Amino acid sequence: MNLAVIGTGYVGLVAGTCFAEGGNDVVCIDIDEAKIAALKSGKVPIYEPGLEELVRRNLKEQRLSFTMDLGAAVRHASIIFIAVGTPQRQDGGANTEQVLATAKAVALAMDGPKIIVTKSTVPVGTADEIRRLMAETTRHSFSVISNPEFMKEGAAVEDFMKPDRVVLGSEDPKAIDLLRELYEPFVRTGNPILVMDARSAEMSKYAANAILATKISFINEVANLCEKAGADINEVRRAMGLDRRIGPHFIFPGVGYGGSCFPKDVRAMIAMGEPGLDMELLRAVERVNERQKTLLADKVKRHFGSDLSRRTLAVWGLAFKPRTDDMRDAPSITVVESLLQAGARIQAYDPEALAEAKKIFGSRIRYERRNYDALKGADGLLVTTEWNEFRRPNFAHMKELMKSPVIFDGRNIYEPGELRKMGFTYYSIGRKDG
Ligand SMILES: NC(=O)c1ccc[n+]([C@@H]2O[C@H](COP(=O)([O-])OP(=O)(O)OC[C@H]3O[C@@H](n4cnc5c(N)ncnc54)[C@H](O)[C@@H]3O)[C@@H](O)[C@H]2O)c1
Repeated sequence: MNLAVIGTGYVGLVAGTCFAEGGNDVVCIDIDEAKIAALKSGKVPIYEPGLEELVRRNLKEQRLSFTMDLGAAVRHASIIFIAVGTPQRQDGGANTEQVLATAKAVALAMDGPKIIVTKSTVPVGTADEIRRLMAETTRHSFSVISNPEFMKEGAAVEDFMKPDRVVLGSEDPKAIDLLRELYEPFVRTGNPILVMDARSAEMSKYAANAILATKISFINEVANLCEKAGADINEVRRAMGLDRRIGPHFIFPGVGYGGSCFPKDVRAMIAMGEPGLDMELLRAVERVNERQKTLLADKVKRHFGSDLSRRTLAVWGLAFKPRTDDMRDAPSITVVESLLQAGARIQAYDPEALAEAKKIFGSRIRYERRNYDALKGADGLLVTTEWNEFRRPNFAHMKELMKSPVIFDGRNIYEPGELRKMGFTYYSIGRKDG
């Protein structure tokens, strides 16, 4: 099939590339000139495991191309995906300006019937709004389908290639049949394609992200209570997770959730309830998360005192989670800002996110090329992202490098007993570790 994907960010680029890998002829469009130039030469501007190799292969096979010419791409394609950003508005709601502007541009460029598919996460009712806007703009026939994306950054290619489910929201059976055909190769293992109305499809995405955020805030709150009550969240989590009604996933305590989706989607869902429906639970989820993000820096200040002006602190992990370079709303930002405000010198390391971090912290922190370099002369180490390479470090070498062997583990990746035996002072989240 001939496809166009508008917006070549984390979602659009992965979707477009995977569709090309499935044998389709895909044109990806973006307004970012530098991004398109890089992609044309096979350079992927984001870090997503496995993506660059796929982009290069499909570019070479000429199934995938990149352009800024939306009109040409629309005329080429029978199905057009919208995967542009839906950032947070000042009032917390989702800003759909990019989506609506794109839909209008598509309508203006149409030269025949088209299927328009929204992949961006959009408030309930947006598909209807797109339909109205396009009907005012073009005389050609079209269908609008809501097809929310559930991929996880860090495993986006894998998720797209083998989705748990594909959700299609539309009341146009012909358009649904075409999309079904397009997605069929990706669900060979029997995972379902769910067809529903567009509003339910739009809501599904928000509800899925909101429950994941809720699980994180819930376990963080229990972890904090464990600390207060002298229980160990690791034991509690295992005991909870073995109950099949609960399950072991997404109940790991830490420094709070971040990224480009959970924070903004929880807030957008709260905004969708207004006026008239107070989303009380989600408000609490957000409050708990904001508090959790301050926890690790508070532990540092309790240990060293609130004036950190003579302290050098190492930070391992800046991305909001492992296997991505995405720093949007990363908890590490709150942690580092709080330490800087207290006067600390920061030496940070992240395997992939240093370039993004530089855009946020500039010259206010030092960036190290190796994790051990960040430890040189450090009074303490904070672990803020659980990259695999941090899990089994050489602790003896770490002790030699550090001025004092203190670890603040925001992801509970080390064993308190082991570290104490090796002479470290160790703090983590919700465990009996001092
Ligand atoms: N990142 C994720 O893990 C994820 C997962 C599921 C859903 N989503 C949703 O998908 C959407 C996109 O997210 P993302 O993380 O890929 O965003 P992103 O910021 O990485 O990418 C958006 C891209 O759209 C481009 N763009 C903006 N306006 C444009 C226009 N008029 N024409 C062409 N291109 C334009 C931008 O230049 C950018 O490259 C959002 O609604 C997000 O909530 C994201």
